[in-house]
Amino acid sequence: MSADSFDAAFAHAADIPGWLTPDQARLLWDSARGAGAAPRILEIGSYQGRSTVVLASAVTGDGRVIAVDPFVDDWKYGSPQTRDKFEEHLRRAGVEHRVRLIADHSTAVRPLWTDPLDLLFIDGKHDVVTVRDDLRWTAYVRPGGRVLVHDCFSSVGVTLGVLPLLGPGAPLRYLSRTGSLAVFEAGTPTAADRARLLREMPWWARNIAIKVLLRLRLRGVARAFGHDSPYDPY
Ligand SMILES: C[S@@+](CC[C@H](N)C(=O)[O-])C[C@H]1O[C@@H](n2cnc3c(N)ncnc32)[C@H](O)[C@@H]1O
Repeated sequence: MSADSFDAAFAHAADIPGWLTPDQARLLWDSARGAGAAPRILEIGSYQGRSTVVLASAVTGDGRVIAVDPFVDDWKYGSPQTRDKFEEHLRRAGVEHRVRLIADHSTAVRPLWTDPLDLLFIDGKHDVVTVRDDLRWTAYVRPGGRVLVHDCFSSVGVTLGVLPLLGPGAPLRYLSRTGSLAVFEAGTPTAADRARLLREMPWWARNIAIKVLLRLRLRGVARAFGHDSPYDPY
């Protein structure tokens, strides 16, 4: 069964380690609920399942979340045991039957993909080349379907990855953001959509400056920029 409310879903997700803020989880939930009666949702980058649990709790009918993550073995995202934690967290939330895991790199899966999607959530590898490839999954998103990009304005790699969306022939319209979780919609961008995206660049520069200040342990200076948390801006 899907959870009846966001609060019920987030009660399961809140204790799962990850970088998704409660407001961003709410945006994922609303987007999944708005994606149709039995949506097909593709998530790139699942880690321990914080976002997966929120998405899978929101889908109705025979909806499914396809979670793509190779569970890379590195200093930040842990080890192959991350997959065990992911599976355990899904089981605890009672949503494992709504999730199909593809334990592989998004860039390896995409060339073989054929199915239409109602919602795409991108939160995988944060380098320019991978982000540009991940945006190519947009080709499978139905017109008007949402594409959500985490860290869109708080990471050098992700922001440089989305910059081609300012150019001609781009397949996505930029709508809004919650923190650095950006909402795009499949469709041809207008000049106003492009201008909206461009206007986020000063905010991106501010977030990168804050990340540098936090690395230099200059939290007082970061506070002067309005950043009160010891954590990176997401
Ligand atoms: C920021 S974490 C995802 C967090 C998750 N969405 C959440 O809210 O808890 C990034 C994840 O991307 C995965 N990843 C790295 N390279 C990837 C790739 N090429 N394709 C898919 N996932 C990848 C990592 O294994 C890691 O689990």
